[in-house]
Amino acid sequence: LANRLGGRPLVLVGMMGAGKTTVGRRLANRLGRSFIDSDEEIERAAQMTIPEIFEQRGEPEFRAGEMRVIARLLKENDVVLATGGGAFVNPETRALVKAEAVSVWLKADLDVLFERVSRRSNRPLLKTADPKGTLEKLIADRYPIYEEADVTVMSRDVPQDNVAADVVSAVL
Ligand code: S3P
Repeated sequence: LANRLGGRPLVLVGMMGAGKTTVGRRLANRLGRSFIDSDEEIERAAQMTIPEIFEQRGEPEFRAGEMRVIARLLKENDVVLATGGGAFVNPETRALVKAEAVSVWLKADLDVLFERVSRRSNRPLLKTADPKGTLEKLIADRYPIYEEADVTVMSRDVPQDNVAADVVSAVL
């Protein structure tokens, strides 16, 4: 396909619960690309789960490892890469992604995000007394940064396949 994507990686960014992994898999199918999830690759490289890395090593070390893993994954052609919610917020990781990939922000409202993250409680950053308030604060801090992605696609609470189709129209 001749398109603005070329062979460059397509990188999904956005908050926890925005559907990066689910949409990413469907998107990879539609584009005939491989799907990679950076959180999974980090767990594989560290031989620890994300919550264990946060607990035993701390967030700064997680971010450094995340940057190294993403730098390696960006060398692959024809992939769809879903990144953890904080990856694009890290200036070094963001610079790498902007230089080497087409970035897509999957944007969603607080209520949609909260509903989705409530189904899976493996997010160390949300282990607080008020997870919804924490999510709201992260949204306020991060949305101006996610704006820097090449493309923004709304991730509504509709079949995720429609969101994948919207991403395809936005990047091809
Ligand atoms: C994080 C998001 C998580 C994971 C880690 C930190 C964040 O990934 O990388 O818990 O800072 O928003 P998901 O966005 O896939 O949940």
